[in-house]
Amino acid sequence: MNGQVQTRAGDGTAGRPRRLTFGALLHGSGGHIAAWRHPLSPPDGQLDLPFHIRLARTMERGTFDALFIADVVAIWGHDLDSLRRTARADRFEPLTLLAALSTVTERIGLVATATTTYNEPFHIARKFASLDHLSGGRAGWNVVTSVVPLEAGNFGRDTHLDHALRYRRAEEFVDVVRGLWDSFDDDAFLRDQKTGIYFDEARLHRLDHRGKHFAVTGPLNIPRPPQGRPVIVQAGSSDAGRALAASVADVVFTHHPDLAGAQAYYADLKARTQAAGRNPDEVVVLPGLSTVVGRTISEAEDKLERLTALLDPRVALADLAYWLGGVDLTAHPLDGPLPDLPPSNQSRSAQRHIVERARAGGLTIRQLAHQLARDTRTIVGTPESIADHIQEWFEGRGADGFNVVFPYLPDTLDDFATLVIPELRRRGLFRTEYTGRTLRENLGLSLPPSRWSAVQARSLR
Ligand SMILES: Cc1cc2nc3c(=O)[nH]c(=O)nc-3n(C[C@H](O)[C@H](O)[C@H](O)COP(=O)(O)O)c2cc1C
Repeated sequence: MNGQVQTRAGDGTAGRPRRLTFGALLHGSGGHIAAWRHPLSPPDGQLDLPFHIRLARTMERGTFDALFIADVVAIWGHDLDSLRRTARADRFEPLTLLAALSTVTERIGLVATATTTYNEPFHIARKFASLDHLSGGRAGWNVVTSVVPLEAGNFGRDTHLDHALRYRRAEEFVDVVRGLWDSFDDDAFLRDQKTGIYFDEARLHRLDHRGKHFAVTGPLNIPRPPQGRPVIVQAGSSDAGRALAASVADVVFTHHPDLAGAQAYYADLKARTQAAGRNPDEVVVLPGLSTVVGRTISEAEDKLERLTALLDPRVALADLAYWLGGVDLTAHPLDGPLPDLPPSNQSRSAQRHIVERARAGGLTIRQLAHQLARDTRTIVGTPESIADHIQEWFEGRGADGFNVVFPYLPDTLDDFATLVIPELRRRGLFRTEYTGRTLRENLGLSLPPSRWSAVQARSLR
């Protein structure tokens, strides 16, 4: 079967084979907030290029569809006392790192976050088009609206833009970027040494965008990207986030603690995509998943316990306050319930998940902080039990695959690549080799035509 599950036409997938898809978060010492303290992880992993190359190559050997680098354009944390106990104060700029990794990898997709709130569309269009050319069509852009209010101060603003406004700006931003990528037709560059004509001016299009948030003349100063458009990822799960995903995303990152919630989200997003006039197969839904593998469940539990024991309770509490929307919990007793909170201007969906968990479990603030540090989506188990989980979510249409977060690196990645992936391959659920050249091809997505080809087709009629 080579990793493709045949589906029936008419069930919302239009007969296209579903593929199990894996993204992998590339994250210095690891995704867990205490990872840098783990004796098997390098404490300076954040800025260690040979270490990142080693990780990227392992991910490529595991035929992950893409590696993903998250980003924040600020030091991530208000509270210096807790910040100085985390690895959140230093990081590579993601596109610079991906450019380096593009030269030592051949097939894996290269996805980076870039915010639409504190950027200009021309810069973003140019950078991702460059990465797409450098990597032979492997670039992806995780479109975020920024969850960290501290970013505002680095871009001439006193306060973070409002949640709804951020999404309106994001919508226009993505439209402008897509327009800029279409500046040249695919065959515009002739580079004819005999005639001396470098490009055909009839195949060049000026954007002349004048919108509510942006005025961009264009054209972009680089040929159309090899993928037509670098893959667009969207990671917001609020109502506004889902609407944006349905209209523009090729891949959606999301977060769900249980299968029922993931199934409801999956069905909702596919329906919204269809309602937006797009083929629902062309949106790949990837919930987050974090794994710790052992030969037995208790060996895996021990590994996780050793990691979580390294977490300073002050850091756990500050992280909880942050994900609840940057609230101040100091006035509330640690062994009392979570108070009622105002709506978050950071991540609405993250706040909702945490409050629901606290209420459902009757948890105190201290218990909640402890649980959050473990992460509800950390699956601890044997290769077989983790493969069972993946299979259940995939076949149950809670996921098209997963964005895997490795709690501490390199061990938890090595275990996933050498133990879980072979088990999935044995079951015929995951491919044994890359089937495409570009990220789009590996994801089974079609090549988007330029917006001008539709205009030209109409004018020829
Ligand atoms: C897997 C995943 C990765 C994300 N990566 C980033 C990131 O790198 N930078 C960022 O500012 N926000 C990131 N986010 C946050 C979302 O993009 C989004 O802005 C946030 O969830 C708020 O949107 P919402 O209120 O629509 O949920 C990520 C979210 C998820 C689920």
